[in-house]
Amino acid sequence: MSVYNEKVMDHFQHPRNVGVMDDADGVGEVGNISCGDIMRMYIKVDQNERITDIKFQTFGCGAAVATSSIVTEMAIGKTVNEALAMTNKEVATSLGGLPPLKLHCSNLAADALHAAVKNYLERRKQ
Ligand code: FES
Repeated sequence: MSVYNEKVMDHFQHPRNVGVMDDADGVGEVGNISCGDIMRMYIKVDQNERITDIKFQTFGCGAAVATSSIVTEMAIGKTVNEALAMTNKEVATSLGGLPPLKLHCSNLAADALHAAVKNYLERRKQ
């Protein structure tokens, strides 16, 4: 039996919004020093500061893939401020929970989203 629940397995086996975005408005990349995994997230933002598209690449474990996938679903349609307010706990909860040893993987997904939003806000200032 898997240590992951059905929802995590679904997002791991059928990840949503995987890929690269050449014309992204913001790009965020974070790494996890304990496991060496890397996550990159791309966002497209409209004139109302709403995230209209999002893509991710993850070089990491199954939990990292699943959390990235759910983060993209949660973030589409949100404003950049709402995306910034999304917490690591919300990500893990929306997946129905993760094994304790894998909770740090969900931090990576939310952190990558926050990094992409911060990159967007910095670009906008220029
Ligand atoms: Fe590295 Fe999950 S083990 S992100």
